[in-house]
Amino acid sequence: MTATTTLPRPPALWLRDNCPCADCRDPRSGQKLFQITDLPAALAVGSARESVTALGEPAHEVVWAPDGHRSLYPLAWLDAHAPGAGGSHPGDGRTEADKETWAAADLAGRLPEADWAAYDTDDAVRAHALESVQRLGFVLLRGVPPRDRQVLTVARTFGHVRETNYGELFEVRVEAEPNNLAFTGARITPHTDNPYRDPVPTLQLLHCLANEARGGDSGLVDGFHAAALLRAEDPDAFDVLTRVPAEFAFADARTELRAQRTLIETDSLGRIREVRFNNRSLATLHQPADLLDAFYRAYRTFAALLLRPELRLDFRLTPGDCLVFDNTRLLHARTAFSEAGARHLQGAYADLDGLASTLAVLRRAGGAR
Ligand code: OGA
Ligand code: ZN
Ligand code: ZN
Repeated sequence: MTATTTLPRPPALWLRDNCPCADCRDPRSGQKLFQITDLPAALAVGSARESVTALGEPAHEVVWAPDGHRSLYPLAWLDAHAPGAGGSHPGDGRTEADKETWAAADLAGRLPEADWAAYDTDDAVRAHALESVQRLGFVLLRGVPPRDRQVLTVARTFGHVRETNYGELFEVRVEAEPNNLAFTGARITPHTDNPYRDPVPTLQLLHCLANEARGGDSGLVDGFHAAALLRAEDPDAFDVLTRVPAEFAFADARTELRAQRTLIETDSLGRIREVRFNNRSLATLHQPADLLDAFYRAYRTFAALLLRPELRLDFRLTPGDCLVFDNTRLLHARTAFSEAGARHLQGAYADLDGLASTLAVLRRAGGAR
């Protein structure tokens, strides 16, 4: 037989919950037709034997006790999904376990980029670009027409635009009455956007329409790499930042947003899953004094680490460039620029789940490499 024999015996309720028969799942949608409470509490395998499916694939047949229900599990399905298949603790695609983390030198000469015309017409190019966002945290699309609202067209190639208080898109240019330092010529240190929203927009796009100012260069830092360095160099600081929630806030004439989340979020196994960091919008924290003391020491240590030059990938956006990046992982930055020169980006938000869905469907169609 196949590898299924060496895998641990699947728990009865798990196996029965996955019965593919037409009484258990609607054949049109694949959705379950029963409640978990409909299954016998004392469910057990009554008998089992090798069999074949209606399509002739080798399968495992189980007749259940005490209700006599019959289930047929293709061996290929068992090999792919039974406990122990695919490693002991598979990730959900969002944690460090499924990423290629990087420092600037790791990407020297191999920036993940794609030409817009090819991306727009060739599914394989699109799949490769979206896969870069998942694996490295970003892709740089080149040759995107530097037109008003084009950033929304880019977002709609892989998902839905997440409208926020800044609108469907936001203008990054010098404003007379800025409600955010981004809309001045000031230097902006590495940060994630909108940490005061919960849920946070998980993807960000920045499309360059003009960049003629002196300064205004871009930077990206891999927050997962930085958080892993913190864990290695100062485990206590890492631990504090995964446990003590920070508070972020944003307010202007029409908006008052607030969120309480940790700077580093881990999954149940302690793997880094989200980073949020924004010195501009960190609000007054409300915690007991000893926790505030521990938080501020750890925050300062992490902030210093995030500013290490070797972590920061520096480049300059030119008109037609559109950066698409994971706002739960990468921090973005820009150098100060002279407000006299024209610099204009249009930004938008979208979400990683939609991008993952688009990529999965492209792969289904054979578009991925
Ligand atoms: C922003 C921002 C970067 C830039 O608008 O959130 O970080 O390059 N802008 O102007
Ligand atoms: Zn069934
Ligand atoms: Zn920003």
